[in-house]
Amino acid sequence: MFSPAQHYTIILIYEGPRCWMFPPPKRRPNTCDTHVSKWAEATYKFTNKFSTVKELYFTGSRLPLPPGPYGIPILGYLPFVGHDFHLRLTELGKKYGSIYQIHLGTKRVVVINDARLIKEAFRQQVFSGRPDTELTRILQGYGIVNTDGALWKEQRAFLHSVLRKLGAKSMILGRDCLELKIRSQVQIFLNDLKSTIRNKQSSINIRPYLACAASNVIGSLLMSMTFKSSDRKFRRIIELMEEGFRLFAIAMPVNFFPLFRFVPLVNYAYRKMQTNRDETSGYFHEIVEEHRQTLDPEHIRDFVDAYLVQHDRIKESGQDSFFSEKQLIQVMNDIFSAGLENVTSTIEWAVLFLMLNPKIQQQIQTEIDQVIGQGKEAKLADLEQMPYMEATFWEILRRSNIVALGNTHSTLEDSSLAGYSIPATTNILPNLYAINMDPELWENPEEFNPDRFLRNGRVHRPEYFIPFSVGRRMCLGDILTKMEVFLFLTSLLQQFDLKVPDGERPPEVASIVSASMAPRPFKVSLVERSNGSMFK
Ligand code: HEM
Repeated sequence: MFSPAQHYTIILIYEGPRCWMFPPPKRRPNTCDTHVSKWAEATYKFTNKFSTVKELYFTGSRLPLPPGPYGIPILGYLPFVGHDFHLRLTELGKKYGSIYQIHLGTKRVVVINDARLIKEAFRQQVFSGRPDTELTRILQGYGIVNTDGALWKEQRAFLHSVLRKLGAKSMILGRDCLELKIRSQVQIFLNDLKSTIRNKQSSINIRPYLACAASNVIGSLLMSMTFKSSDRKFRRIIELMEEGFRLFAIAMPVNFFPLFRFVPLVNYAYRKMQTNRDETSGYFHEIVEEHRQTLDPEHIRDFVDAYLVQHDRIKESGQDSFFSEKQLIQVMNDIFSAGLENVTSTIEWAVLFLMLNPKIQQQIQTEIDQVIGQGKEAKLADLEQMPYMEATFWEILRRSNIVALGNTHSTLEDSSLAGYSIPATTNILPNLYAINMDPELWENPEEFNPDRFLRNGRVHRPEYFIPFSVGRRMCLGDILTKMEVFLFLTSLLQQFDLKVPDGERPPEVASIVSASMAPRPFKVSLVERSNGSMFK
């Protein structure tokens, strides 16, 4: 009936006056939804009835729009979201329920706080889009994480099949080669730590060691490359990747209100994202060129080889496809940053939680000593006999909330969910934080307690726990993450006790809010267990 653009314009024109009708909040806007007058409430209900009329007229739907808080003209709720966006959205969920909408600048955002509803939505094609925003436009429509439609479908299916062949999609099948790659990085990581400690550095920030190890795992899988932490080029790439997550958080408002590009800090972040992306792409381009020179279709070394071979095959056959060098480079960017940042942060969180909870640390070490013993290398097969370790892995993901708001989806057409109408191009935010910290689902959710994932001594993962999201766009790195965290953490605890440095106060459990939540920098004291465990 209407093109998406027309439809969207109509909604904007309509939603404008609805915002204007409310008196400005009297107090600090952060609490505006709780200070709305009765008059405003009544007006809201009235205008929401209008929404139904609008839906009937424009989308043919009889369903109302989801409820939600009021905003101010033009910016909607944007000025009230605050720094800890996930906390604000969770608070709003207590008032408006498991599905509600807010207007952030020019965008309608539907927030889902319930795992069952997220599953229902994300298994449907219509909910599998990604928002077209100022920031995603920097990527020029390439990659996997921020694309949708036919390109995303083809490229995701290919990435999935290559990850499976490389052993990164099953804890059992075909994993041997990948396991060896991870284990060799574990040994380098442990040796680095030992030499640092022997150089009398008793307490360290473990993140750079973890970042080096995690990027070497993903680097070898993607492009057969490993790096030394002293390598300047490599340090620069890690810097750019880590900075990318922070810049994303600063520049995010332009996604909702393009004029924010003229705010100096946001503008700086936006431009820096562009130049950083050009720099990393240049680096990956060189690697693709090197692979081209040495490519042997009979001996696929890594993802880049597999991609180039498939690209050539399709080109020869004259088939239509989205395989291209630009696409390959953006996929490398996507996977390298996901593999580096999320895995590094997960193990860093693990170190923090275990250092703050010595009893849990000791319980894992007892399990390690019983199943593997000292002096033997940890193997993935050992995990089957280590339920406490696996439960700890899930608890780290729950309590750290690394990807607190998942990744935003967008509706490809008009749709409905839970009895509400969801117009096309609505942003859909799965609030994984609200699920992970819901006191109705988890007793004392703030507490770090792996036992909540055990039932009669066996691992039990409730169906509402979805740290890797669900459905058509579910994370492709879930198994790889599990393998890496298990091998690194088990080996670390097999050899070291993790302690709060002497004379220092225990660090807070607090995160740096960015696209992926890392713990605030902290120091840990590593005590070699062969020198006598502090727990004995
Ligand atoms: C702690 C570790 C990780 C967590 C918690 C995590 C979580 C997530 C989440 C929540 C999404 C969004 C899914 C959606 O849109 O509904 C996602 C997407 C994705 N993840 Fe991960 N991830 C992790 C590690 C990794 C790793 C190691 C890789 C490397 C292969 C990876 C690759 C991807 C890709 C390619 C996507 C995009 C999928 C798509 O848009 O179709 N992730 N991840």
